[in-house]
Amino acid sequence: MTWSRLQGELTGSKNTIKTSSPALGVTRKREDAMRGSDEQSREGEKSLVEFRSTGGERKEEIDKQRSGGQNGVSTMAQKRKRDEEEKERKVAAWDTGIEKTVEKGKACEEERTREEEAEGMLEEFIDCTHGAYVNGGGPVCDHTASRLEHRGASSSRKMDDIVKDFTEESQENVKTTGEKNQTLLTTCEDKPELLSCIPVSFRISCKCSGSLSRCLGAQEVSRVIGAGLSRLLGWKADLKNPQLEINVHLSDDYCLLGIPLTRLPLANRSYIKITGLRSTTAWAMASLAHIQPGFRVVDPMCGVGTILIEAAQEHKDACFLGVDIDEAQLQKASENIAFAELENRINLLKASSLVLPVPSATVDAVICDLPFGRKFGSRIDMAANLPLVLTEMERFVPMFVGLNCFF
Ligand SMILES: C[S@@+](CC[C@H](N)C(=O)[O-])C[C@H]1O[C@@H](n2cnc3c(N)ncnc32)[C@H](O)[C@@H]1O
Repeated sequence: MTWSRLQGELTGSKNTIKTSSPALGVTRKREDAMRGSDEQSREGEKSLVEFRSTGGERKEEIDKQRSGGQNGVSTMAQKRKRDEEEKERKVAAWDTGIEKTVEKGKACEEERTREEEAEGMLEEFIDCTHGAYVNGGGPVCDHTASRLEHRGASSSRKMDDIVKDFTEESQENVKTTGEKNQTLLTTCEDKPELLSCIPVSFRISCKCSGSLSRCLGAQEVSRVIGAGLSRLLGWKADLKNPQLEINVHLSDDYCLLGIPLTRLPLANRSYIKITGLRSTTAWAMASLAHIQPGFRVVDPMCGVGTILIEAAQEHKDACFLGVDIDEAQLQKASENIAFAELENRINLLKASSLVLPVPSATVDAVICDLPFGRKFGSRIDMAANLPLVLTEMERFVPMFVGLNCFF
């Protein structure tokens, strides 16, 4: 209920004088009500006098009818009193009604003001983000913005939900961040030397996972972030030969941002001559074995020895045995071990893992990369023989609890 509506209602009322002041309207209305009631009383008295002047039985009869047999003067006094009481009650009820309406109107007005303020904030936020797309970096960003705007209904709904999630609190944060970004931008614009000392060409690699990936594409997110960096820091996107690689992983629960510190792949090893299993995987498998000082560790299908070398690099106080059925593989393993200068800690043995010449209960840990595919396969049916292989491992590892298998 707004003031204008309240006024409209008051104006439509029979006894109300048009006024811009609700309080004045109420007073006049009350006066009108009272005036009406006085007129009624006067009319009643007049008719009574007329009646009295006619005198006689008729008067008494009517008096009796009206007062139930009481004196006519006291009946009049009672009637007046009743009229006055009724009048007061009506005025009081009227006042209360108007007060309630006025209060309700005020509350509605306040609520609407709050809603309008919130809407304004949200519009500001949406304007701000769209500004980032459109002003950020030429056609790519425009394209992104239009694609985001012209998505299907379901995607729009998702976007709506995402925007809706920015409640009053986050709206405030967005506003603050926007101000900060503006400051940063102004700083860079004011001092171009700042930009020249940040010689950054960059590329963004983005990955979206979870339900988020259904409404946001990795390329779109990359473009939006890239446009923001270009706009705020003056960095230049270079997809072929960037100085800086920025990795982003957006999921439902978190946003992970990473900057690789080296261009070399993490799996690169200076101490491996002939590569076998990816070194990072071999290192992770060795870590899972929880090798302790003094441990005897066996890889019963060691190939070129990658797992053993990774484990030996990490655990200087343990000793290692590599077994393989293939002579050529063992030859390469031997080269690798010599290259890594680990001959005194890693031994090699040619044997089948189905019957290993290892005494029972003499080994502390087994790490194995089982045969798979053509290149790393086996001459025997490994799937059929896997129970035998595991039984054999269980024999020489007393605390054998499981195996990491890679097929
Ligand atoms: C997946 S490859 C291991 C690769 C190794 N992790 C590396 O980094 O080089 C599996 C190895 O198991 C060996 N192998 C297959 N069957 C075997 C068996 N019955 N006994 C022992 N070794 C076997 C293959 O010669 C092959 O080198």
